[in-house]
Amino acid sequence: MGGFACDLVLRSVSIPGGRIADISISGGRVKHVGSPLPAEIELDCRGKTVIPGGVDMHVHMRGGIQAHKEDWKSGTMSAVAGGVTVVVDQPNTVPPIMNEEILRQRVIEAGKYSLAGYAINGGVSPSADLNGLWRGGALAFGEIFAAPSSYGDSVSLKDLKVALERIQELGALATIHAEKIAGEPSENLEDHSQKRSVSSEIEAVMEVRGINTAGCRLHFCHMSTAGAVEAAGDATVEVTPHHLFLSLERFSPGDTGGKVNPPLRYESERRKIWTAWDRIDVVASDHAPHTLQEKGQSFQKAPSGIPGVETMVPLLMAEVRKGRIDLVSLIEKTSYRPCDILGIPRAGLSPGDRADFAVYPETMTKIAPELLHSKAGWTPFEGYDAVFPEIVVVDGRIRYREDEFFPGVSGWYGGRGYIGGRHKKNGADTAHS
Ligand code: DOR
Ligand code: ZN
Ligand code: ZN
Repeated sequence: MGGFACDLVLRSVSIPGGRIADISISGGRVKHVGSPLPAEIELDCRGKTVIPGGVDMHVHMRGGIQAHKEDWKSGTMSAVAGGVTVVVDQPNTVPPIMNEEILRQRVIEAGKYSLAGYAINGGVSPSADLNGLWRGGALAFGEIFAAPSSYGDSVSLKDLKVALERIQELGALATIHAEKIAGEPSENLEDHSQKRSVSSEIEAVMEVRGINTAGCRLHFCHMSTAGAVEAAGDATVEVTPHHLFLSLERFSPGDTGGKVNPPLRYESERRKIWTAWDRIDVVASDHAPHTLQEKGQSFQKAPSGIPGVETMVPLLMAEVRKGRIDLVSLIEKTSYRPCDILGIPRAGLSPGDRADFAVYPETMTKIAPELLHSKAGWTPFEGYDAVFPEIVVVDGRIRYREDEFFPGVSGWYGGRGYIGGRHKKNGADTAHS
């Protein structure tokens, strides 16, 4: 470090609220915001806006035998290039994360390749070892499939009730994929949306709340309608960029690129979900990469899912630039709230805060698939306005700058149940406190 007080200073950057400041960073933490301290690296950020790195609490990074769809390297390159500095991976991997040993392997795999901070959720099924998963450092439980989806077996309400009792005793969070299905397979997008209907999503939410007599802390994933958001009661609620920005009308009926669970809805529903913006706790991508080849199968056979970790914050930043949402609400829903819900320390602009940042230019661009980093290789947001970050800082170090990645060790965020020690031999994956 050569005797500098700091590792990095972001100079003359616009901070939320509009003030221009120098952000001095040392040892992965914010040291000072105001005038600059001497630093090893100084970056001129004049005319640019800095916000805390995104925490995408719902991604499917694949890997293992699904590495042709995505792996930790490509998935987190995609995250970082979209201003997301922490990802929370879902347990419907192959094999699913149902016991401590599989979780341990997953943490090691992520630790070797992840360019972003990472956390792994534990899976829930009648045979899952919830205690072992909690001890092994699962951040939360779920997404728990209250309906089958790609690579996710559904859990019956009866089994879910028992699991919620156990998760409540552990003091953990249960995240729920709430849907009910009237027959499969579906023939086209409209049919898909009818078989997994707006009203059945609300029913599923009500049923899950109804069986939660244990009072387990609940988080509803990817709510597709304003009605479902409202039905969540005092649970926390997440929505995706695809339900905010895409609707059935924007696709031809047989376009598998729009096939996702829960389904895309009509444009009128899409507009309505924005009216619930203030109630929505979290925007998370449900980044579910499938290749063009897989999506190229018949509608019935094509897997459900949309890649989106790289485009989530850029799409929302464009909404900020257009004056449709305010920057503070973007930061709340993509960074602060997910941290608070999951118990991850916040990245922010006070001394001692976790130093994960993304620096955005004034200029708006259009989303183009060839500029993205996911192995999926396609995006349903092609041509949409977006603002991509130019500089991304992870753990106080530059991880990405103008389309160049700088490797470095990223931290593992283990859950509160973690008893320590076991993941450390791999070096890269030491739990944050
Ligand atoms: O569309 C979806 N794809 N919904 C899910 O719940 C799972 C996901 C996947 O893993 O592909
Ligand atoms: Zn889901
Ligand atoms: Zn998911």
